[in-house]
Amino acid sequence: MVVPESRDKMYYPSGDLQRDAHVPDLDSYLELYRKSLENPEVFWQEVADEFFWKKPATGPMLQYNFDVTKGNIYVKCMEGAKTNICYNVLDRHVRERSLGEKVAYYWEGNSPDQHMTITYSQLLSHVCRCANVLRQMGVKKGDRVSIYLPMIPELVYTMLACARIGAVHSIVFAGFSSESLCERIIDTQSSVLVTADGVYRGEKLINLKQIVDEALEKCREKASSSVTKCLVVKHPALRTKSGAACNKLQTPWDSECDVWWDEAMRGSPEECEPEWLDAEDPLFILYTSGSTGKPKGVLHTVAGYMLYTSLTFKYVFDHHHGDVYWCTADIGWITGHSYITYGPLANGATSVLFEGVPVHPHVGRFWEIIEKYKVTKFYTAPTAIRLLMKYGREPLQKYDLSSLRIVGTVGEPINPEAWQWYHEAVGQGRCPVVDTFWQTETGGHVLTPLPAATPLKPGSATFPFFGVEPAILNEHGEELEGEAEGYLVFRRPWPGIMRTLYENHERFENTYFKKFPGFYVTGDGCRRDRDGYYWITGRIDDMLNVSGHLMSTAEVEAALTEHPAVAEAAVVSRPHEVKGECLYCFVSLKDCGEFNRAVVEELKGLGQSSASCWIHVRRRKDAAATIIISAQIG
Ligand code: PRX
Repeated sequence: MVVPESRDKMYYPSGDLQRDAHVPDLDSYLELYRKSLENPEVFWQEVADEFFWKKPATGPMLQYNFDVTKGNIYVKCMEGAKTNICYNVLDRHVRERSLGEKVAYYWEGNSPDQHMTITYSQLLSHVCRCANVLRQMGVKKGDRVSIYLPMIPELVYTMLACARIGAVHSIVFAGFSSESLCERIIDTQSSVLVTADGVYRGEKLINLKQIVDEALEKCREKASSSVTKCLVVKHPALRTKSGAACNKLQTPWDSECDVWWDEAMRGSPEECEPEWLDAEDPLFILYTSGSTGKPKGVLHTVAGYMLYTSLTFKYVFDHHHGDVYWCTADIGWITGHSYITYGPLANGATSVLFEGVPVHPHVGRFWEIIEKYKVTKFYTAPTAIRLLMKYGREPLQKYDLSSLRIVGTVGEPINPEAWQWYHEAVGQGRCPVVDTFWQTETGGHVLTPLPAATPLKPGSATFPFFGVEPAILNEHGEELEGEAEGYLVFRRPWPGIMRTLYENHERFENTYFKKFPGFYVTGDGCRRDRDGYYWITGRIDDMLNVSGHLMSTAEVEAALTEHPAVAEAAVVSRPHEVKGECLYCFVSLKDCGEFNRAVVEELKGLGQSSASCWIHVRRRKDAAATIIISAQIG
């Protein structure tokens, strides 16, 4: 695969890192990779042997059809097996591995004076209490629970409680609008919603419960109010008097539906028998943007996702006992699901759970936290790196980052300049940068370096993970060999790939499998260089990536044209120095439409709710009766 005398500048792992690594060199990677493709049964069975199975599998490790011309698309892993992922990521460590006293999370709030430590035993008892409360609220196996929470420990408790009782969690990022929340509640028909009264994001206090109430009102207007109970966490920062502005927060309350978390948990038993689930039972739904405008409810199932997130975490971050790992993502995105909750916990890891933002209360916040907890493995997004780069090296020099061993990125292509800065300034030239390419749909890393094995090229996600077989196709679906550029596709499934789009298998097949029968189509462009390295070139559909978050131009266009004064809207991408890309929205008003502040505010509201981010509008041009405005999101 690799030409040793490559003409590109390569970065090689240090002997120190290689000494105790799980995959210590390129030959070991190649050997394991070959085994994973040639003998997937044995390869994945060995991974499965690490876990607890209430009942062994009766079917093979993987069965699938990836070819629409031969019938329905399906993927099944370990059919017939029964297990529970919550048992495997908690009880197994506490009961079988004596890790009860080990720290699962160091929670660090938005403000540096807010922090707490949660051990595996404590996590287990919180999860059990929450699971019992959900059961008491009538939640059963297969029911959906919507979660709209900031990055507080209750978010982890709730998702694992769902997993424990076989309920399907649908987490909605707590920065999303009431419209987006409503749409996702309606799609999943959740009976319970878990939220918080409010949250500070930097300096700003956000009334989450009010957004929730607006969302539920919208559901009622659409005659689709499935939610019967709303469990409300009092945010730790709003519990105390020093949470000052707490008095300013009015929490709207419906005593029929709303229940305070603390009151519900009081007296709830700390033991809860897990629901033993089929390997292919659903674990969660997570919405991701779709190019037709309507978000897609990506569905992952229990066993395959557990094996895959666990193994990728172990190898990509070369996890060892004693590590302190920190992923800065929000659990509202797939990165948080796979690499804050399930992957690290499956390995019995200690993680930092961070609620804040990189530059509050000062621009050295990330570095301060790395020093405070002696973080060894650090995982963030290129957009955060580019933002912090702007402040230079001085903020870093105030802190001791010598604990760091591996640093990683995810979410978008990383430009070589940001890569170098990350490697030199943050990783101090000693830490490999693992540039992990994957998607909500893939469940876990699919193209990624292994830190002690892969010589790195800045900007390349390098090689496939075990069990993953990439190919590059041209527009006609012909496979390109050697040095080439085209559509990135995968020829076969790995255990963690999505199984369907919730209640829309047809859209699943059309979106990912129809264009090139026999392959899973990622929607990304890709180049393979002369050394066999893969370089993601960006989306080749109507999707764009703002700060590592996917959105579709059609989604925003559809929202803007909902406005009665709008004749048409066209949304395009524009490069952005920090965010990678940003949106420009060109909006033509109808003849009768008048450009004024009110229209601008309304358009901002619509744009925000569709793209779930912030939109600034400025007037571009006034041509006769039609006014064109441009908007930038971000
Ligand atoms: O375009 C690719 C980009 O992010 C998309 C997936 O977005 P999402 O499902 O929101 O998941 C993001 C976190 C896994 C991909 O189709 N992307 C993700 N990681 C990389 C990347 N592009 C280049 N390099 C990466 N490392």
